[in-house]
Amino acid sequence: MSRVGVIGAGYVGLTTAACLAHLGHDVVCADVDVEKLARLAVGDLPILEQDLPEMVQTELARGRLSFVLGAAAAARDSEFVFLCVPTPQAPDASADLSYVEAALREIAPVLQPTSVLIAKSTMPPGSSRFVQRVLHEHPGAECVAVASNPEFLREGSAVNDFLNPDRIVIGCDDPAVAVRVSSLYKGVQAPLLVTDCASAEMIKYASNTFLATKISFINAIANLCESLDADVRAVTLGMGYDHRIGFDFLAPGPGYGGSCLPKDTAALIRAGEAAGYDFSLLRGVSDVNDAQFARIVEKVRTAAVRLDGVRVAVWGLTFKAGTNDLRDSPALQIVRRLLDEGALIAAYDPATGPEAADALVPREIVIPEAEVALAGDGRGRSMFAAPDLISIDDQSEIAVDRFFVAPDPYEACRGASVLVVLTEWDDFRWLDFPKVASLMRSPAVVDARNLLDPAALRRCGFAYQGVGR
Ligand code: UDX
Ligand code: UDX
Repeated sequence: MSRVGVIGAGYVGLTTAACLAHLGHDVVCADVDVEKLARLAVGDLPILEQDLPEMVQTELARGRLSFVLGAAAAARDSEFVFLCVPTPQAPDASADLSYVEAALREIAPVLQPTSVLIAKSTMPPGSSRFVQRVLHEHPGAECVAVASNPEFLREGSAVNDFLNPDRIVIGCDDPAVAVRVSSLYKGVQAPLLVTDCASAEMIKYASNTFLATKISFINAIANLCESLDADVRAVTLGMGYDHRIGFDFLAPGPGYGGSCLPKDTAALIRAGEAAGYDFSLLRGVSDVNDAQFARIVEKVRTAAVRLDGVRVAVWGLTFKAGTNDLRDSPALQIVRRLLDEGALIAAYDPATGPEAADALVPREIVIPEAEVALAGDGRGRSMFAAPDLISIDDQSEIAVDRFFVAPDPYEACRGASVLVVLTEWDDFRWLDFPKVASLMRSPAVVDARNLLDPAALRRCGFAYQGVGR
């Protein structure tokens, strides 16, 4: 059992802290968000992660997990300190390491000389030298060892991915330190790869950007299938049986999103440029992804004939099913584009509520509370009391309230000319589609996740468009 500090209590840090406590370590998890810490201290989690709430509550009760304000409080007296603070995309698309640097400067004075600083946040290859430089600027911290231990957690299955990983990667220049770090994972059955820091960091980027490449590839194949009258579902089945390809990450959709793939792809392209290498392949992957958002918008426009003033129902706002995370969600990218073309959006997502409007509106525009209309008025009347096609001179009145979060998937469809499915929540499969058709002005659906059954929907009178089908 070791004393472990975890800096950052987000999807990655919280999962890491809870799972290490579950493995028998004594874990102190720090954050800067006082409100978040207060909720975590009583086992109330702001994120949707299977098994994580129960694990946090169990480890809090066992006294193996605690939450503190500030990185220094978690690093003090800790033998191992995991860095799980954000590494967001900087304006030049590189990875912003300012949070990493701030956390390092805060903990350097309190680290034990025998401590090991373990970078779990995704950082470009070579960042560990930056970490060492910052740490070793502080007297007393020059002996602190640095290791890279990238995470391969998928949101929605993070606990399972932590305890049942395909592999554990440890980057460290000192083999003895690598052995100490690997001891933290005692009880986890997985191949252990010990390498240098830069290679460990590259493994993370290469893995994530390969996944992005696989997704853009299958989206491109799906688009070609549409032109060549092939069915991408059959194609992915035929491809997946090849063990060198596999079935995973071959589901075409609206494009990839989330807090990792888009930013990691951009960061590796940028790292390539800085190293004098033009990563044209990855630029292509990113371009295909952006084009996929536009392609879904085009499908909606085709189904509705025009978008200006037209009601569009949206099912799914999160970046994928199984999470409540709206960061870099393809659904929001597509909703923004539909709004830019004058559409009126009523959206439903089982994991989010009215807060989705905040994620949608660009930071510089704040909608005064009073003007954000409530979704539905409870009397079964759609929130869009106006006629279907809003005349242009009314445009100014609806400028701020053309996006609503509906209380249920049916209310979102009331009076809509098109329904677009953007997140693959399983619940959507089993809804009453004759009822949906009766609520809509015209039963047309753009199924951007190939989630629904085209034949069943066509029997209900829907004009059905999928992706690659
Ligand atoms: C983050 C990065 O986004 C990802 O690239 C990296 O691999 C791991 O850390 P995630 O856990 O999803 O992933 O981020 P997020 O959910 O935003 O959590 C970050 C947490 O760190 C937040 O709770 C934030 O309050 C906290 N934080 C941020 C600190 O504790 N200190 C800081 O200086 C900044
Ligand atoms: C990803 C990596 O999978 C994980 O290993 C890494 O640690 C963090 O980034 P995550 O961002 O949680 O995990 O989501 P993931 O399941 O990879 O999906 C990313 C995006 O790709 C989502 O928008 C998802 O909808 C999309 N996707 C995924 C597809 O469009 N098709 C697929 O077949 C798979």
